Amino acid sequence: MSDKPLAGIKVIDFTGVQAGPACTQMLAWFGADVIKVERPQGGDVTRNQLRDIPDLDALYFTMLNSNKRSLAINTKTPEGKEVMEKLIRESDILVENFAPGAMDRMGLSWEHIHELNPRLIFGSVKGFNDDSSWNDLKVYENVAQAAGGAASTTGFWDGPPTISGSALGDSNTGMHLMIGLLTAIIQRNATGLGQKVSVSMQDAVLNLTRVKLRDQQRLEKVGYLEEYPQYPHGEFGDAVPRGGNAGGGGQPGWILKCKGWETDPNAYIYFTIQEQNWKRTAEAIGHPEWVEDPDYTSARARQPRIMEIFGEIEKWLADKTKYEAVDILREWEVPCAPVLSMKELAEDPDMRKSGTIVEVEQKERGTYLTVGSPVKFSGFKPDIKGAPLLGEHTDEVLADLGYDADDIRKLHEGQVVA
Ligand code: COA
Repeated sequence: MSDKPLAGIKVIDFTGVQAGPACTQMLAWFGADVIKVERPQGGDVTRNQLRDIPDLDALYFTMLNSNKRSLAINTKTPEGKEVMEKLIRESDILVENFAPGAMDRMGLSWEHIHELNPRLIFGSVKGFNDDSSWNDLKVYENVAQAAGGAASTTGFWDGPPTISGSALGDSNTGMHLMIGLLTAIIQRNATGLGQKVSVSMQDAVLNLTRVKLRDQQRLEKVGYLEEYPQYPHGEFGDAVPRGGNAGGGGQPGWILKCKGWETDPNAYIYFTIQEQNWKRTAEAIGHPEWVEDPDYTSARARQPRIMEIFGEIEKWLADKTKYEAVDILREWEVPCAPVLSMKELAEDPDMRKSGTIVEVEQKERGTYLTVGSPVKFSGFKPDIKGAPLLGEHTDEVLADLGYDADDIRKLHEGQVVA
């Protein structure tokens, strides 16, 4: 028996760009047989986007489609649609993230798919959910961050709404979808029936921005938010403001400059003042007198002068690199971390050891780095492989579906497959 948890699960990956592919890639890492269905001309658009080497599949594609097989087929031709319908009949999951209405236009509505294979689970990503008055919109990452509340609550109060570098709209939605698909598999195993699982990017972003909805309601009740830098010297409007680098939860925190910040854009740490660790924190940063001083001794007393306190800590940090600072602070149990650049993460030996960053062999390219599974299992280690070339497995998949060599040749000649 295979040691891969999802061995035996067959997935049709009818997705593109990032949200859908991130979901199906993780299913593949965990052992599902994922067949990526792509247009014969060019395939997934990310094969061609942001290329670093001419004529080679871009990292955008390879980093979101590893461990999959590729079937290049035009599903808008009758022969192509027939292949797709055969695949649907024998698969467990179909995932798509096309523009609204595209599946229906191809004659592959949920109702039709469900009729072809009642056991199949149909996963769908859209920008907005069905009840939204914007459900006809095409959506990319930053559009979702704007619509899901992330942008209005990110950045500084005197600047515009700001987009996060993390894919809150794309990969995050894919992860939500994966949770839904696995849930539906468990139910299908009991009932024998598949269902449609939908996740919208706006909803997935809002789910991660949940704490800001908490703050909205607190603001409406009391008129201010104590843990935001606007309190008590600034003003609050009627919506949750952008809080800069504030802690956001019950523990105040900030990004603080360390030695070298003048020339190194990442010479910073994130420093958190943990209420229950105040005594040790004050001692660690060379201000033991703050432990008893009534102006500093409680979180409430500190809040009006929190930015001054952070300023004092920056003075303490001035002759320490971010790594030296964290090494000292960890001894005092101060929750903190260096701000790490992508270069530092890429070169981090611990990340390599844990398999969170892995070097993968890719046909025609050589090796590249990718983010491996952030989920660790005690009984299984995902083996991250390269991504398929366009149509690399077309003939193999067709043969599995019962097409003989002559049929396959005809499909190639008719440019139905590539
Ligand atoms: N054979 C034949 N046709 C195919 C095909 C295949 N194998 N694969 C895709 N197509 C067709 C689709 O049917 C569609 O045709 P239609 O427009 O005539 O209906 C066409 O290719 C393009 O589809 P799509 O990629 O959805 O359109 P787009 O490039 O205009 O829009 C997005 C891209 C991402 C904006 C849009 O897909 C979208 O909003 N998706 C939902 C949200 C989402 O996932 N966003 C991206 C997050 S990373």
